[in-house]
Amino acid sequence: MNKQNLLLTILVLLLCITAALGIILISIDEPDAKPDSTTAPPETDAPNPEIPSPLFKTNLEDYEQYMDANDEKYLILVNKSSTVDQSYKPESLVKVKDSHKDIELLETAEKALEAMFTEMRANGFDNVSVTSAYRSYSYQSSLFNTYLNDEIASGLSYEKAKERVLTYSAYPGTSEHHTGLAVDLITSSMSELDESFADDPVYPWLLENAWKFGFILRYPKDKTEITGYSFEPWHYRFVGRYHAYKIYSEGLCLEEYLED
Ligand code: DAL
Ligand code: ZN
Repeated sequence: MNKQNLLLTILVLLLCITAALGIILISIDEPDAKPDSTTAPPETDAPNPEIPSPLFKTNLEDYEQYMDANDEKYLILVNKSSTVDQSYKPESLVKVKDSHKDIELLETAEKALEAMFTEMRANGFDNVSVTSAYRSYSYQSSLFNTYLNDEIASGLSYEKAKERVLTYSAYPGTSEHHTGLAVDLITSSMSELDESFADDPVYPWLLENAWKFGFILRYPKDKTEITGYSFEPWHYRFVGRYHAYKIYSEGLCLEEYLED
């Protein structure tokens, strides 16, 4: 090998070494092409892996977006200490399908409720209907006053009557019916709402399945100290499936869930 060829070989070798080093450095700078999980946008269309995918007897595909709605606004807490303004009126109230009276709910909750009724009927529960849903401040006032007068008529003093009514009816401005996200169910064998709802076979079905449609039992028997209301097996509240599953599976009431 003459001197010129030797120089050429050394030059080629140097170029190869430089190129190899460059590749190594680039791969150190960019270890992999995976997106950073903390900044990647959430995959909103994918089923949430944290909760089970419900199985239904009927095709509820068109209702999925409502049952699975996940928005802070569906977690609004209304209770004795977290009140809602007298003038508050929820947007997009719609008539509850198949209801006999002028009963309205927030649209997302109404659609989710339609799905729950479809599935309830497919499971043989065709004895259930909606008896109350959205209530304005003035409607809640008249309801509360009716109960108050009934208790006074039964012999209680005003103070005692009020104390008693507050265990089962919300003072105007403190009822979550005012949000358009709560619904009272009744069976055909009941003439008024009472704990006998819990004796109907639909009740254990609702206990187990309401979360699939985004609803929770809002006033459970073992949470009366926290909710401030006696057991209401008929009152269901829409929060969306993700939160409903968490609340159901962890055995919490809404107050406890929102405390965390
Ligand atoms: N019965 C429930 C507590 C209400 O009046 O909103
Ligand atoms: Zn209710």
